[in-house]
Amino acid sequence: MKTSLLPVSLAVAACLAFPGLAPAAPDATQPHLETRHGVRQLVVDGQPFLMLSGELHNSSTSSKEYMKPIWPQLARRNLNTVLAVITWELIEPQPGHFDFTTVDDTIQGARDSHLRLVILWFGSWKNGESSYQPAWVKADPQRYPWAKDRAGKTLNLLSTFGDATRDADARAFAALMRHLREVDGKEHTVLAMQVENEVGVLGDSRDFVPAANDAFAKPVPKELMNYLVQHQDTLAPELKTVWAANGNKPAGTWAEVFGPGKPDSAKNAAQLSQDEKDTLWRQFDWPVDEIFMAWRYSTYINKVAAAGKAEYNIPYYCNTWLQQPGTPRPGEFPSGCPEPEVHDVWRAGAPNIDILAPDIYIPQFEEVCQRYTRNGNPLLIPEAASTPDNALLAVLKYNAMCFSPFGIEGRGGFNPQAAPGVGAATPDSLAQTYAILGYLAPVILENQGRGTITRLPAVTDTNAPPQELKLGDYTLHFAYGAPNQGGGRRGGGGGPRAYGPYPPVDNNSPARLVINSAPGEYYLVGGPMRVSFTANQPDRGDVVLGSFDETMYVDGHWVPGRRLNGDETSDNRNWPALGSFGIYRYSVFQRQ
Ligand code: DGJ
Repeated sequence: MKTSLLPVSLAVAACLAFPGLAPAAPDATQPHLETRHGVRQLVVDGQPFLMLSGELHNSSTSSKEYMKPIWPQLARRNLNTVLAVITWELIEPQPGHFDFTTVDDTIQGARDSHLRLVILWFGSWKNGESSYQPAWVKADPQRYPWAKDRAGKTLNLLSTFGDATRDADARAFAALMRHLREVDGKEHTVLAMQVENEVGVLGDSRDFVPAANDAFAKPVPKELMNYLVQHQDTLAPELKTVWAANGNKPAGTWAEVFGPGKPDSAKNAAQLSQDEKDTLWRQFDWPVDEIFMAWRYSTYINKVAAAGKAEYNIPYYCNTWLQQPGTPRPGEFPSGCPEPEVHDVWRAGAPNIDILAPDIYIPQFEEVCQRYTRNGNPLLIPEAASTPDNALLAVLKYNAMCFSPFGIEGRGGFNPQAAPGVGAATPDSLAQTYAILGYLAPVILENQGRGTITRLPAVTDTNAPPQELKLGDYTLHFAYGAPNQGGGRRGGGGGPRAYGPYPPVDNNSPARLVINSAPGEYYLVGGPMRVSFTANQPDRGDVVLGSFDETMYVDGHWVPGRRLNGDETSDNRNWPALGSFGIYRYSVFQRQ
């Protein structure tokens, strides 16, 4: 792949900056979103795709050498996609002169390890603040203004009231997307784009530059009011309540429509007690300031995204620093970020953004999944703590298209040469979980939205009482305790995975589930245990085992194993005991 340092002609540059550019027509051969069984899925090369991901640390992809040992390590840990940063400062060191070395190195590194990428565009903002804009932007605050707080102090973030900043960011982003189309338009290593990172004002509840104060005193723009009126039945309940509390006005200034902003006398975060923080963090405090900033950021980013989509139209998303106990109020979390209470504002302001995404570091993981799947928003989790059980919850219950722990290459004493943890003293349970999800991904994706997937509790107590699960035409009965090794009537054949030459996976693996993939067909992840089936309509005949397949665990991956029959299943007259944890496929039928 060639490195380029390209001047962009002024004509092209000017054209790229113009808002209102039509996105390039969606091309079904490029990564795109499709709704299947009511679920919005990522489709890559004609097939739904589940991103089993991790996000790299912020600075990793700035060095090809640093990344060299990391790519294969991530592939060995069963990731199929890596979220990787590309920065404005490195691709446009001088205005209009582009250097795509980091982009090309990142794509090549991923390809060499058969990984896909999501690219995170660190442009005007990263975690609310601004440090990734090129030096020529930083050095010219007249042209590229910084935000201010209510006391007139300059904040460490670019103001959304800087059209030149927005247009320069849009030009750079468009150049990046054009380059991606040129180098990756056929191979599809890059699956999606994150536009900016955790935007929003930090340090006050809104921006107070003079242009912001003028805009705040004016009526709410018609585009936003029309959207709210047209979508009033489906608005987020938090926004609906605020609008109603202020009289459901169809027009008016920001404060008339959404109520008062943060009072000058409000305590700052450092003055709040822990109790106050715990109480405040689920409230929609000073909503007008947050709504105002959500409109500013969404409309700014929509123009950046439009310039990019005109070049290369793949899925785009924005990520969120969530409101949480440590940062309960706007300005403590970035004010204007796509928090769930302002999703409607973002939808109205940024139609070029396909997905609003949460970065989930708080324990209320499921509550966040619920709030980010309202109104058909697909779940894409670009940052999370590395909790495999949450990966399963997100993918299996909330149809997530991506789960991605942050800082995936480790911290501090990270040793990129170390073997992955599967089967080792410290099992890498994320790698184990991804191995299972990766093996079953086509089945999971085919079954999302159909109500045919059930997670099972992890039962490792051999005295645990039996359980049952009614799913489809049958009820599955699970019994724990020591299964018969071998399982066959002649005792020598080896039942499922009882004598495999492969290392057993950690029996505490959180992945335990059943998928009723077709009438009478069940994928089961679990063990050791015994599983038998009864019919939900017994009058249709006795339940008989049609076929039974095991999988094998080889070099950290699941691969198809034996079709078990004969001695191993007593000629299919017995329900085979599952000697160890594994992935099994049953077909059953009823015989009169
Ligand atoms: C959230 C940010 O989006 C990431 O870039 C990174 O800074 C993490 N926080 C650090 O925990």
